[in-house]
Amino acid sequence: MSATLGFGVGLRRAHQPAVFDPTRIPGVDFFELLTENHLAPGPGRLAAERAAAVRPVVLHGTALNIGGLDPLDPDYLDEVAELAERTDARWISDHLCFSGAHGEALHELIPVPRTDEALDHLSRRIDAVRKVFGDRPFALENPSYYIQYAHQPYDELAFLCRLVDRTGVRLLLDVNNVFVNCANHGGDAQAFIDGLPAHAVLQVHLAGHTDLGHVIIDTHGAPMIDPVVALYQRLLARTGPVATLFEWDNALPDLPTLLAENDRARAAAAAVLTEAPACP
Ligand SMILES: [Fe+2]
Repeated sequence: MSATLGFGVGLRRAHQPAVFDPTRIPGVDFFELLTENHLAPGPGRLAAERAAAVRPVVLHGTALNIGGLDPLDPDYLDEVAELAERTDARWISDHLCFSGAHGEALHELIPVPRTDEALDHLSRRIDAVRKVFGDRPFALENPSYYIQYAHQPYDELAFLCRLVDRTGVRLLLDVNNVFVNCANHGGDAQAFIDGLPAHAVLQVHLAGHTDLGHVIIDTHGAPMIDPVVALYQRLLARTGPVATLFEWDNALPDLPTLLAENDRARAAAAAVLTEAPACP
């Protein structure tokens, strides 16, 4: 099995500077940095550099707008590539969505219509992004979504498979999003996991959500539920060890609570893997 980065947490301001002390983050193998928080010179960039001095980092953005119709922003791409260089980020990821239109940020991750036209569009833009990011791996995350388009020849799994086949893009597979989307839109989460191109999965996200009864919202504000853990284990049985990050963004708990959830992910992985994930 391939070595991975192990188990990580997001770098959050409320947990700094404690997380810069290696003795206070047992079990944290890497940090995920929200790209846009660390691009500009100043405290954000300094925090990224401090984090990178303590643990390997990966960059995770929301502003790439890979599925949008606006031209890709060359300045933004250059800034991300520079941050990746500065922090020796192991890879760069963003979301399979559009997040802006007519030059304005939407502050939402809107799903891309699952059409052949969108596949053409995404393929061209993924190629363009890779030209800037060079040899650094680039991954796209399956977002949670709450709307469906009237015309969609492909279901989400078929669309992802075609995109990976066509472009070789890596996947940041958010297992909680698989659960949430399947629950909200009537899919089979286990079949989704079983049908994924396992070789393409570069990183996993785990998270908690909020079940409102008529809809589940991907809030990242709670511990993960057992069915999500089971889906994660089902995925690992196909992929082997994969870098895994527990996302907690809303109602952010204290550091020990976050680390406990990270430990829970590690224990879940150990239960199904014969080889412990290890830092390269
Ligand atoms: Fe995620």
